Amino acid sequence: MYKVLCKDGRAKRARLETVHGTVETPVFMNVGTIGAIKGAVSTRDLEEIETQIMLCNTYHLHVRPGDDVVYDMGGIRKFAVWDRPVLTDSGGFQVFSLAGLRKIKEEGVYFNSHIDGHRIFMGPEESMQIQSHLASTIAMAFDECPPHPATRKYMQDSVDRTTRWLERCQKEMKRLNGLEETLNPHQLLFGINQGGTFQDIRIEHAKRISEMNLDGYALGGLAVGETHAEMYDVIEKTIDYLPEDKPTYLMGVGTPQNILESVERGVDFFDCVYPARNGRHGHAYTNHGKLNLFNAKYERDDRPLDEDCGCPVCRRYSRAYIRHLLKAKEMLGLRCMVTHNLWFYNHLMEEIREAIEQGCFQEYKKKKLESMEELK
Ligand code: GUN
Ligand code: ZN
Repeated sequence: MYKVLCKDGRAKRARLETVHGTVETPVFMNVGTIGAIKGAVSTRDLEEIETQIMLCNTYHLHVRPGDDVVYDMGGIRKFAVWDRPVLTDSGGFQVFSLAGLRKIKEEGVYFNSHIDGHRIFMGPEESMQIQSHLASTIAMAFDECPPHPATRKYMQDSVDRTTRWLERCQKEMKRLNGLEETLNPHQLLFGINQGGTFQDIRIEHAKRISEMNLDGYALGGLAVGETHAEMYDVIEKTIDYLPEDKPTYLMGVGTPQNILESVERGVDFFDCVYPARNGRHGHAYTNHGKLNLFNAKYERDDRPLDEDCGCPVCRRYSRAYIRHLLKAKEMLGLRCMVTHNLWFYNHLMEEIREAIEQGCFQEYKKKKLESMEELK
């Protein structure tokens, strides 16, 4: 059940109720590709920093440990000991970005595993079957994320195939949700809009998939090399052709700035590796911009990472100590950085939700962007 609670301009404050719990949007999904957040962050840490929903990956979990193992262990939520919602990406994107030598055919994609190189086939039915085994709350449709730039002909053929794959996903998901042995018979299916920066292809595709009465709609194939201005333009012009009474998910985006701009255009769900990846590289997000903890000026700095931060790391440790841990390659350093950065993103979304409720999203966005510029 998805309900828009209020709007401020086009920015939406909404709620998605699922069998695994409620998601308040706009939301940032914390990326735990293999069923864990990189940087030794536990699901208990995630609860403490108020993560609402974790994102896991069909492709990775299929290759290792195998979705049959996860199924036998009761599904990814039970296996990873995480009782809030999980969204699984379909594997489409990872096959295109990670796997070696691949061949795209009408039936699906043939590719080599990034772990041991063995030949794997994944099509819409296989992706749905794996996601059903993983028993996530939300499954993503199996799509092709086309490269940027692509020719118009390539894009149109790819999008048409993605539409046919979506029909097969929907049919297979219905069948799987009806089986007695299915762990989550209420699994939701989100479709993915594609079309690169060809606005007419995007709109035609959005219209087509909107008729399919899916549980949600994602904008895919963005943040793949186009400019920010092009990405915002695509979001703005395509979102009008997606149903307003369904959640919208901007896949793989992005910086706090990208999120603020996209919320303004009506997006509900986000995910991105930046907070975890930047944290592992020693970059801490703060309200005054990013800090690089490897910078010598933090050697004797006894302040927390961010003086305005209420996260468990900032309540305890100094910049100097975390810098020392990072330099010594001690795992606690990574855990501190990633936990703090995820808290920063989760808290940003909480502030966004409050600003929309109070009807002051524009003022909030302006102030936030200005303050985050300070350290640049
Ligand atoms: N993650 C980021 N972009 C995409 C996309 O276009 N498709 C899928 N399945 N996942 C993504
Ligand atoms: Zn903090």
